[in-house]
Amino acid sequence: MCGIVAYIGTKEAYPILIKGLKRLEYRGYDSAGVALMNNGNISLIKQKGKVSELEELATKASITGTLGIGHTRWATHGPPSQINSHPHISNNGDIVVIHNGIIENFQSIKEELTRRGYKFISDTDTEVLPHLIEEIQKKEKCALDKAVRLALNEVTGAYAIAVFSKKEPNILIGARKGSPLIVGIGETEFFLASDASPVIEYTKKVIYINDEEMVTLNRDGNFELKTIQNEEKTPNIQELELNLESIEKGGYDHFMLKEIHEQPKSIYDSVRGRVDLTNGKIKLGGLEEYKNRIMASRRIVIVACGTSWHAGLLAEYMIEDLARANVEVEYASEFRYRNPVIDEDDIIIAISQSGETADTLAAIEMAKQKGCLILGVCNVVGSSIPRASHAGCYTHAGPEIGVASTKAFTAQVSVFFLIALWIAENKNTLSKSRLNQLLHELEILPSKIESLLKSCEEKVKAIAKEYKDATNFLYLGRGYNFPAALEGALKLKEISYIHAEGYPAAEMKHGPIALIDEEMPVVFLVNNISSHEKTLSNVQEVAARKGQVIAIARHGDTQIKKLAKHVIEVPDTEDCLSPILASIPLQLLSYYIALERGCNVDQPRNLAKSVTVE
Ligand code: M6R
Repeated sequence: MCGIVAYIGTKEAYPILIKGLKRLEYRGYDSAGVALMNNGNISLIKQKGKVSELEELATKASITGTLGIGHTRWATHGPPSQINSHPHISNNGDIVVIHNGIIENFQSIKEELTRRGYKFISDTDTEVLPHLIEEIQKKEKCALDKAVRLALNEVTGAYAIAVFSKKEPNILIGARKGSPLIVGIGETEFFLASDASPVIEYTKKVIYINDEEMVTLNRDGNFELKTIQNEEKTPNIQELELNLESIEKGGYDHFMLKEIHEQPKSIYDSVRGRVDLTNGKIKLGGLEEYKNRIMASRRIVIVACGTSWHAGLLAEYMIEDLARANVEVEYASEFRYRNPVIDEDDIIIAISQSGETADTLAAIEMAKQKGCLILGVCNVVGSSIPRASHAGCYTHAGPEIGVASTKAFTAQVSVFFLIALWIAENKNTLSKSRLNQLLHELEILPSKIESLLKSCEEKVKAIAKEYKDATNFLYLGRGYNFPAALEGALKLKEISYIHAEGYPAAEMKHGPIALIDEEMPVVFLVNNISSHEKTLSNVQEVAARKGQVIAIARHGDTQIKKLAKHVIEVPDTEDCLSPILASIPLQLLSYYIALERGCNVDQPRNLAKSVTVE
């Protein structure tokens, strides 16, 4: 939800900003803008549309300057337009601000400032900030940093901001509450950014700014970190582990395709160092400290959104099945507001690729207040959810840039498979030999995915061509494959804009069967053994009504071949891992259908990778 990048130092800021904005574009792509301190004046260029459109405009303007801020927007208040694009500038033309988040009390601040004669030109909540800072400077006759601090004490809501003023051209200010912000520290230069990607080739030294902290970066190489209550903070300078290669397309047409193909490696990485196959042991270093509390807990409540919620549903199936522990899965956005009955006997596990999802973060904050132990299963190292959790496990899938989650999902499921087995081992719910068998199956999963990617891609492409004009799709599965059906449907709708529903296969006859006719593609996930016969009966029901059955089935499943129009074969595995294998062709199917329809695969309309507003 909006990406911000800023620079102060000795280099030309514009190339750093524009490159940074391209890397942050996954966070929003409704409009983009930059402001640079240019020979004593502020050059402000902003434009509706993508960063590339801004680039065209800015190249013609040939702006220069060694202090600048840049923004890529996901619209909340006011439609995508030039006027609503960031940066926003104060009425006196001195102060420019970029913002990620929502100023919840902007209306009352706007009314007050309007009464005092300030003119607002945009519909955004953000525009109150430059005007408010200007007003405070006027009233208090103070420097920019004090005015920003006082302004932030007046606003409620979420923000990551970068601010500079024409009157103090050697200062760049950043602050955060609820939206991510990092400082990159170079040799007498500083960067601010929503994540590490714009910074990575310039420096590895970063500070993750905490909520209600503000950093003042000085061109002379000094900086000051304080809370917005004006208390000094000791900065925790950390070393980035990210590498440049991992955030580039690496020869693929889209990040999504690259990320689908990275799954053998990302699953391997999510498991690496966590399994001792010789002794049949699982090592989850992050959870060990809380082992007794986890084992003694009354129940585990998983909170997440979107694809991460689907991984949570699979986690429920796995933990209950393998470890016989009580699990509930909640949409974070519902859980946080519905006054749930939770206490210190409950363990809350938040799942999030980005680690920044506003609802998930708020849900764990609420549960923490009630005394629950909070665990995070996140992908982005150093993001807000892991930092707000007591402990957890990173998924180690590497940066996921395509807005549609693929490798992060399968890595989440692999990590939960390990968590389920870790609990099972501690609770003695599985025999040693069964545990070893399951661990072995996980170990060979990456090579199965490798061969599946090779064997199914051309077939999936052909199916995508055939169904590219469908207006609806149904995805059906039972047991472990029901969450995978939900995930398959979500992938299709978000990148191809085709309406798709995921359902438990047996639920079909309670309503969705009415939708079946000869036009309706129905994707059946039948590659799990336990409910195979029963799912085949559901396939019969669809075939009898002339639905177009596309099946994901185990190699050598002869029965399904008699019923389905298309069969995509996947390798055999344990039922609890079958949704991972089923997900691979489903990801490819949505990718190739979206491509056939000419959709923007990596940046689907209306979406953003990191949902930092509720
Ligand atoms: O970063 P998170 O995992 O917390 O994000 C949750 C959802 O916003 C995310 O999974 C979303 O549904 C994806 N676009 C799905 O592909």
